[in-house]
Amino acid sequence: MDLVSTLVVAFWAMLPAYVPNNAAVLLGGGRPIDGGRNLGGRRILGDGKTWRGTIVGTGVGVGLALLLSEVAASVGDAANVALPTFPLPVAFALAFGAMVGDIGASFLKRRTGRDRGAAFPGLDQLDFVVGALGLAAVVDPAWFGEWFTVPVLAAVVVVTPLLHIGTNGVAYALDLKEEPW
Ligand code: CTP
Ligand code: MG
Repeated sequence: MDLVSTLVVAFWAMLPAYVPNNAAVLLGGGRPIDGGRNLGGRRILGDGKTWRGTIVGTGVGVGLALLLSEVAASVGDAANVALPTFPLPVAFALAFGAMVGDIGASFLKRRTGRDRGAAFPGLDQLDFVVGALGLAAVVDPAWFGEWFTVPVLAAVVVVTPLLHIGTNGVAYALDLKEEPW
């Protein structure tokens, strides 16, 4: 696969993992998952991780994956690249895994003394990638192995932080997010 095709496959395959956190920023809020409880004098997760954000974010990611599956063949033909479709368990794994990765990062941030909204460079940009890919690899190893080849994984690790910084910067500029990370 040439470089452009590798980048296109990486972006396409990761889209169901990219949108859930952004959907949570737009549509989340309400009751926090940790119910306001503390662990060692600090919130377990904090007010930024809510049931609504997690459920809606996962739903939006799954919905997008199913939509992409419908058009994968025609878009792939037009772009001359073979693009993956997303079986339902994979769609769920990518979307929910992304949310779980982000929740895990908040857990680690609170344990390391970082308040809600504090930056944790590296973790902020890749937490959801680890969650999404980890869960997808467990749920459907064959699908994962077919699409997330070593070059595609390398593309994901390089491109995701750039996209993450870009979209969060835009969300911050539009006043949708309180911090630019
Ligand atoms: N959000 C949500 N549920 C989630 C994830 C995010 O409701 N599972 C919403 C919250 O309104 C949150 C916003 O999206 O404030 C931004 O998400 P994020 O930057 O991940 O959370 P922070 O508030 O910065 O908190 P943390 O320091 O724990 O990351
Ligand atoms: Mg944040």
